[in-house]
Amino acid sequence: MEDLPRYLAIARQLESRLDSGELAPGSRLPSVRQLAAEHDVNTLTALAAYRYLEERQRVVARPRAGFFAALPGAVASGQAERPMPSVATLVDVESRMSNLIRLSAAPIRQQLHMAEAHDSLYPAQELARRMQQVLTRQPELIGAHLPMARQALLHRQISQLAAGWQLDIPHDRILFTGGITEAISLSLRLLTRPGDTVAVETPVYFGLLQTLQMLGLKALEVPCTPDAGLSLEALEFALRHGAPVKCLVTVTNFQNPTGALMPEDNKKRLLQLARRHGLPIIEDDVFGELHFSGSHPPPLKAWDRDGDVIYCSSFTKSFAPAFRLGWLSGGRHHAELARLRESSSLVSPALLLGVLSDVLGSGDYTRISQRIRQQLARQCDQLADAVLAAFPRGTRLRRPLGGLLLWVEGPDGLDSHRLLQAALAHSISFAPGLLFSAEPRFGHCLRLNFGQPWSSTLAEDVATLGALARAQLQGQ
Ligand SMILES: Cc1ncc(COP(=O)(O)O)c(C=O)c1O
Repeated sequence: MEDLPRYLAIARQLESRLDSGELAPGSRLPSVRQLAAEHDVNTLTALAAYRYLEERQRVVARPRAGFFAALPGAVASGQAERPMPSVATLVDVESRMSNLIRLSAAPIRQQLHMAEAHDSLYPAQELARRMQQVLTRQPELIGAHLPMARQALLHRQISQLAAGWQLDIPHDRILFTGGITEAISLSLRLLTRPGDTVAVETPVYFGLLQTLQMLGLKALEVPCTPDAGLSLEALEFALRHGAPVKCLVTVTNFQNPTGALMPEDNKKRLLQLARRHGLPIIEDDVFGELHFSGSHPPPLKAWDRDGDVIYCSSFTKSFAPAFRLGWLSGGRHHAELARLRESSSLVSPALLLGVLSDVLGSGDYTRISQRIRQQLARQCDQLADAVLAAFPRGTRLRRPLGGLLLWVEGPDGLDSHRLLQAALAHSISFAPGLLFSAEPRFGHCLRLNFGQPWSSTLAEDVATLGALARAQLQGQ
């Protein structure tokens, strides 16, 4: 007997009753509470079973009416509008992750699988020149920490930059970290203990799942749609009816992988919800600077009057990946995070901080980041057009308003994991949907990055990918 998670065992049992006709197409199914009682599980587990079947289009949820057996051939359209939270599960994504990371080392012509842009997007020459200048002026930065006065200047510069995003961050509330990865690890180490549950978006950035796994944490996956981002309805349901949740990690601006931008109104409502439930939030704003028009969308933190949000930002995607410079402002947890960080990386490299300060002070940052954004916006359109032209009918995507990533929802039946195997034979990689959840979800989706310069080769490779997807569906 397979050792299935409880929700999956319940879903499979329901599925066989649907297959046998015992639960007739169109008939009303037991309520979530009844199902939970029948199987002696909590309501979230029962919901997870229904959600699993909903994704397979075996059941349909109707608002205020419950779940119904799907009609043959019926497409559960609009299911994203009625998302349900999943049940918290201990995360185990290590093998899937390392397989993907291994791809980066493989001689693949078209690397579309990581959330990374081509190095030509970034101002390497300019940064190299600046670094030379800083070294000539201050060779001691190789052997010393950044002098206090210089540090204070850099913190004021960051505070000024963030003011443009509607953030009021005092300059003594900024802590540099090794990218957002370190900022999130520190925050989770502070807020949780092994075995605790953390709410995350689903689909979710797999690096976060890996961090949760390393810390022995459970992920409560809360649905996130490309249109509206995290479902507040589902989060509230989970907070009211589920096991205690220690904190939420959310990417509010241009989420990975969906590209979702959470509407401002939702950001404000999320803060109120978190306040009501005493839920600390770790906000990951890694892509906020990569907005295609207007200005950096205000993060949640812009409305955080009570210090509930640990805000995390980074220059790794938007400016200088190899600098690995991120920063956080920890709200009411700031002092503890500063202490914790002393046991982690202690300080950031003085030379890199010095170069960053020079770039921010000179005004070059504004000019360069504008150029990066414009290029990404063009590449996003080029890739989205090519995908829509090449992929099978029924493929859906929503063009993001910023970031680096395009989330493609294939038609029913597409197996993006198998598609990846076929694509690799053509030297093309992408991230298959299964990676973006600790549970078996999103198998028909794929994530591509549009950080690669557009070229005829890339156009051909996207056409090949589309042809492989069509062939897979025709072969079924
Ligand atoms: C949503 C998200 N957060 C954080 C990171 C990692 O950020 P950093 O490079 O600053 O550690 C990534 C990288 O892809 C990401 O997509």
